[in-house]
Amino acid sequence: LAEQRVAVDDLLANPLWRADDVALAAPRDIYGTLQGQIRPNSKGMDMTYANERNPVTAAALALRVPTLAESRPEEVDPLLRTLHAAQPRWDMVPVERRAEIMTNAADLLESRREALLALLLREAHKTLGDAVAELREAVDFCRYYAIQATALMRPETLPGPTGETNTLRLRGRGAFVCISPWNFPLAIFAGQVVAALVTGNSVAAKPAEQTVAIARAFVELLWEAGVPRDVVALVPGPGETVGAALVNHPLTTGVVFTGSTGVARHIYRSLAAKEGPIVPLIAETGGINAMIVDSTALVEQVVDAVIASAFRSAGQRCSALRLLCVQEEVVEEVLAMLGGAMQELTIGPAVDYATDVPPVIDAEAQAALLAQIARLEQGGARLLMRTAWPAEMQAMALTGSTEAGLVLQDDQRRDLHFVAPCIYAIDRIAQAREEIFGPVLQAVTWKADRLDALMDDLNALGFGLTIGVQTRIDGRAAHIAARSRCGNVYVNRNMIGAVVGLQPFGGEGLSGTGPKAGGPHYLLSMVAEQTVTINT
Ligand code: NAD
Ligand code: ALA
Repeated sequence: LAEQRVAVDDLLANPLWRADDVALAAPRDIYGTLQGQIRPNSKGMDMTYANERNPVTAAALALRVPTLAESRPEEVDPLLRTLHAAQPRWDMVPVERRAEIMTNAADLLESRREALLALLLREAHKTLGDAVAELREAVDFCRYYAIQATALMRPETLPGPTGETNTLRLRGRGAFVCISPWNFPLAIFAGQVVAALVTGNSVAAKPAEQTVAIARAFVELLWEAGVPRDVVALVPGPGETVGAALVNHPLTTGVVFTGSTGVARHIYRSLAAKEGPIVPLIAETGGINAMIVDSTALVEQVVDAVIASAFRSAGQRCSALRLLCVQEEVVEEVLAMLGGAMQELTIGPAVDYATDVPPVIDAEAQAALLAQIARLEQGGARLLMRTAWPAEMQAMALTGSTEAGLVLQDDQRRDLHFVAPCIYAIDRIAQAREEIFGPVLQAVTWKADRLDALMDDLNALGFGLTIGVQTRIDGRAAHIAARSRCGNVYVNRNMIGAVVGLQPFGGEGLSGTGPKAGGPHYLLSMVAEQTVTINT
C-alpha cells in the first residue's frame, strides 16, 4: 500500500498542504459542525467564511490541480489481500479509539480548510458557497459517525434465563469497497469511507476519475489522523476497469456505491454473479425529483426554492429539482417571476465569488447535457426560458459555443464547460424519462382535481429521491408525503443540502437501496452481528 503509484508530489510539495501554515481569522466552528454533539447549522450555509473580508486567499486559488496516476486492475488483488489481512487487527481496536481517529480527521479537515476549499473550487468547479457547505458536510460525517458508532457498537447483554448469558456484539464485516461520484468529491467520499472504517472495516476507496486529488487529500488526512496505512487505500482509476476489479474481487465483503442508477444496477449484477460470500451493496443513485406547487403557494418562496434547487451547483446534485409541477391557476405568475430570477443568475467560473452557476464538470458532461436537451426538443418539449450568457463570457467563448452551451478557458488555460440554465415545458410527466444531471428543468401543469393522479404519475417514474411541496393548505403536505415514494420530502423550502444527523438522506426504488447517509441506521449495514451464548 505504501507503494501506491499515485503521483502526489505536486500536492505534497505545495506548502498549502502543511498543517499550520493556513492562518485565518475565521473561528474553528464556522461550518456549524457537530463539534462533539448533534448541533449542525441547519439553516442554509454559514457564509462567514465566504465573504470579501475573508476569502480563500489568492495563493490557495493559484493551486494547480495535480495530475495523479491511475491504479491498474492488476494492482487490485495485492491491495485487497493487504486490506483483508489488516482488517481483523483494526476491528480489535476499541470503537472509542476508532471514533477518536475520525474526530481527529474532522479537526484536520477544519484546519486545512483553505487548501481543501481551493481544491474544491479548482478540481470540482464548486462555487465558494457550495465548497464551504461541502467541507462542513464532510466534517459532520466524521463527527456524526464517530458518535453513532460509539453508541451502536458497545456489546449489549440481553435479558435471558438464569444460568445463561447472551451477548450481542457488532463487528466489521471485512474489506469494503467505496465507490463515489465527482459531484460531492469530499463529502460523499468521506462519508462512505469514514462510516466503513469506524465500524471496523478496512477500505478500498475508489473516487471518480474527475476528482482524484481531493480524494487523495482526504486519504492522507485519515492516515495522519491515525488510520493505519494498510487499513485504507486510495484506488483511483476508471470505473469500468479498476472499479469493476474491486467489485469482483473475492475478498471484497461489502460495496458502498454512490452514482448513477445504471452503474448501480451493473454492480448489483456483478455481485450476484460472483463466487464466494454474498456481498451487500449499499447504492445511492439518481432521481427525477419533482416540486409540486399549488395555487396557495407563496410565489416568491417558490421562485427562490426553484432557483436554488434546479440551478445552484449547475444542477449537478442528485437531490436537484428536475420536474416543476405547477397548478394551472398560478402557472403564469410563477413562470413570469421565475423568468426574471433566471436572468439575474450569474454564470461564471467557480473561482469568481460572484458566480451562481459554475461550469459543469467536464466536456463529456456538457456534451451529454446538450444531447439530452436536443432529445427533449425532438420529443416536443418547448423552451420557456434560458439564462443569457454574460457579454464578457460570450466575447471570450471558444468555437463550438452555442446559446445552450459555452466553452471558455480559465486563468490556468483549462477549458471550462458551461450549460445555460433553462426550463422546458412538457405535456406529461411520463415524458421525463431520464435524469438530466445539469441546470435543465422541465415544467408541467396540473389541474386542481388531479393531485392524486399527479402523485401516481410521479411514483410511476420509479425514482424516489427528493420531492418538494409548496402549499399553504393544512394537511396537504402530509398527504403528499404519505403518497410519495421519495426518501426526502421538503415543504415550503428548497430541496437540496440535507444536513447530516438532521435530514438523513437517500431514496428508494431507482434512487437507491438505503439506508440513509447521515442517519441513525446507516452504520448498521456495514457490520456483522454476533450473538454469544454462555452457559454459566
Ligand atoms: P457514475 O455512476 O458514472 O460514476 C460513479 C462512480 O462509479 C465513479 O467513481 C465511477 O468511476 C464508478 N464506476 C463507473 N462504472 C463502474 C463499474 N462498472 N464498476 C464499478 N465502478 C464504476 O456517476 P457520476 O457521473 O460520477 O455521478 C453522477 C450520478 O451520481 C448521478 O446519477 C447522481 O444522481 C448520482 N448521485 C447520487 C447521490 C445520492 O446520494 N443518491 C449523490 C450524488 C450523486
Ligand atoms: N446530500 C446532498 C443534498 O442534499 C446530495 O443536496
